[in-house]
Amino acid sequence: MSTERILTGITTTGTPHLGNYAGAIRPALALANDQAVEAFYFLADYHALVKCRDAALMHRSTLEVAATWLALGLEPERMIFYRQSDVPEIFELHWILSCLAAKGLMNRAHAYKSRREENLRSGESADPDQAITMGLYSYPVLMAADILAFSADRVPVGQDQLQHVEMARDIAQRFNHHYGDLLALPRAELPVHGRSIEGLDRRKMSKSYGNVIPLFAAPQELRRLVMKIRTNSQAPGEPKDPEQCALFSIYAAFATEHAIAELRTQYAAGIAWKEVKDCVLALLDDLLTEPRRRYRAWLDDGTAVERLLQDGAARARSSAAPLLAQVRDAVGMRSLGGR
Ligand code: TRP
Repeated sequence: MSTERILTGITTTGTPHLGNYAGAIRPALALANDQAVEAFYFLADYHALVKCRDAALMHRSTLEVAATWLALGLEPERMIFYRQSDVPEIFELHWILSCLAAKGLMNRAHAYKSRREENLRSGESADPDQAITMGLYSYPVLMAADILAFSADRVPVGQDQLQHVEMARDIAQRFNHHYGDLLALPRAELPVHGRSIEGLDRRKMSKSYGNVIPLFAAPQELRRLVMKIRTNSQAPGEPKDPEQCALFSIYAAFATEHAIAELRTQYAAGIAWKEVKDCVLALLDDLLTEPRRRYRAWLDDGTAVERLLQDGAARARSSAAPLLAQVRDAVGMRSLGGR
């Protein structure tokens, strides 16, 4: 059996937080380190452009997101790590797929639908498509091109992206039906879910709730945030419930089995909240001090990051080029001379 291809895109927006690390980055890196797979991980800057019109921020975020993954252990030699906009084959395939993708299918895409519903609800304009760009609308076609250009078998994504991977399958099937079996049908892979990390206010840690702990916060800031995590008002000595506690959800995501069991016992024995916070802080310091140093080093050396990405793009392009040649030929874009 040939090695499986696994591919995922990382949108270059936002500051990554502890929840992203435990829920997405760490599992993706573990997958990529599996010897039996060939991994393609890329910075989805074309996708970021859909939401971000600030050129300086686009540029900065691309560096920050690349530095984050490198600092957390992405090994560019073991995988193909590239920036989407450096691979013109993706964009070329995007157009060809656009000419096959049903508009009705795109009408059902979640991101587009929810923006439309928002417009209808707000009643500010008679046009339900007010301020919706073609970029937002075609987002799933671009994502299909990302995946299909590399014949990816497995696509690790969060629940919110499942629909997009299914659309990619659908579009690939249409292509194959019309032009012959050239495109591999990908399957989405959802992360195995344990308990998710909770944020400062006990809700799931999420940028949209504004309750996050950024991965590379400076040490004093990290301390301030951990001390701010909301607990209940139980006094030292009272037995406490780890399942109802954000601090424990964070500890459990990063500590060893043994340490987790130990802390659980201490909850039953009535450990004080202040002590739990100290434990969590010590764990996070341990976990993040070295990656934080590496993160800063990558940020200071954009040239090195650029070199890595250029190398990744060259490898990505040579991987996509043969398929693109077949696709162009299949749709009738062929040399007019010869044969
Ligand atoms: N849209 C994805 C997200 O927001 C990122 C992404 C872009 C992606 N292209 C992809 C993920 C291709 C998987 C495969 O998370």
